[in-house]
Amino acid sequence: MFVARVEADRVRSLAGVKFEPDPGLTVIIGPNGAGKTNLVESIFFGLTSRSFRTSDRRDLIPFGSSYARCRVTVSGTGVDHTFMASASRSEGNRFTMDGARIEQAEAVVHRPKVTVFSPDRLELVKGPPAGRRAHIDSFVAARWPGQAGVRASFGRILAQRNALIARISAGQADTSQLSTWNSQFAEAGSALAVSREKAVGELGERWESSAGELGLEGPKSLSYRPGAATTAEEIRTGLDEKLENDLRLGRSSWGPHHDEIRLELDGRQLRRFGSQGQQRLGLLALLFAERSALLEAGGQAPLMLLDDVMSELDAHRRDRLVERLLEGGQAIITAAEGELIPDREGICRVAITDLLAAAEGGQPEDSDPGSKEIGSADPGAAA
Ligand SMILES: Nc1ncnc2c1ncn2[C@@H]1O[C@H](COP(=O)(O)OP(=O)(O)O)[C@@H](O)[C@H]1O
Ligand SMILES: [Mg+2]
Repeated sequence: MFVARVEADRVRSLAGVKFEPDPGLTVIIGPNGAGKTNLVESIFFGLTSRSFRTSDRRDLIPFGSSYARCRVTVSGTGVDHTFMASASRSEGNRFTMDGARIEQAEAVVHRPKVTVFSPDRLELVKGPPAGRRAHIDSFVAARWPGQAGVRASFGRILAQRNALIARISAGQADTSQLSTWNSQFAEAGSALAVSREKAVGELGERWESSAGELGLEGPKSLSYRPGAATTAEEIRTGLDEKLENDLRLGRSSWGPHHDEIRLELDGRQLRRFGSQGQQRLGLLALLFAERSALLEAGGQAPLMLLDDVMSELDAHRRDRLVERLLEGGQAIITAAEGELIPDREGICRVAITDLLAAAEGGQPEDSDPGSKEIGSADPGAAA
């Protein structure tokens, strides 16, 4: 599966921009501020109806406009599918495939998994552990689809146990109801911890070698640091021991919601002691490690969207990066200068200024951002 066509109808600074990436490696080149990141964000938005830069999709609405909209056509399975994502101030968000509304769970079956590198995602390496936990959990879902639900199951049970703990602390409930929740917490927590341990086990060596290849010098390690135990039995026992503390705090103070996935260089945490450049390489290596694990497991290569990735690498590393990307799968990367891109066969180069010059200036604003797909008869317009 690959992205054959992108129509950024109106997304941030882009209007009527059409783009047909290569099924292999495409480089979008252009000066700062030209709209390269916006284009990469448009692709992600069209495929997922989300943004990797912001949790508020309304940020994508062009200044002075009332909605954002992008279409992305996915080819390669015999039948093409066109996804359309829109965000509107008055009508909310909308996501369709071939004109019919679609849920995320179904969309992922018909589109490639998307991996994004962007400066905005550096938070994953240098931010708090929650981001890394969520990221590893999404790798688990991609690698072992049958375990896609473990994160959400634990999250639900944690919320319910927390609510009960808070009621007990406030004297509104007694501890007799706790044992059922503790058992469920232990089962779900163990499933989650085991999946993370397995994922990190698959990614560890790959991360270390990718990071070395990209230029992160020195001994490295990627490790799983459980916030609690990994077996259900140990977790249940632990919960009993921590009960007093939980009741004092009014929440579950112990469990896999305190897990850490630690990236280390020279025995020190990359998040705390790494330079910005080292953190960037650490993130990029993590994405490559995941890609190689998925490929080796016989899965689809994810679409790699790598925004502004070249600036930090020396010529030799840029060469290695491009070589890896040319090994297979689709990748779309951006660069401020064409000279940063190694001169190799098989790279499709696109100047963003050419795309902008060919743009049709966007469709005239219609009041319903999804109207072209759904028709005005759709009663459930507001998402
Ligand atoms: N919602 C928006 N509406 C219109 N323009 C926007 C919006 N958000 C950002 N921009 C503009 O997009 C431009 C930056 O585009 P960007 O894709 O980041 O450039 P590049 O990645 O090529 O450096 C800036 O001029 C910024 O003002
Ligand atoms: Mg940019």
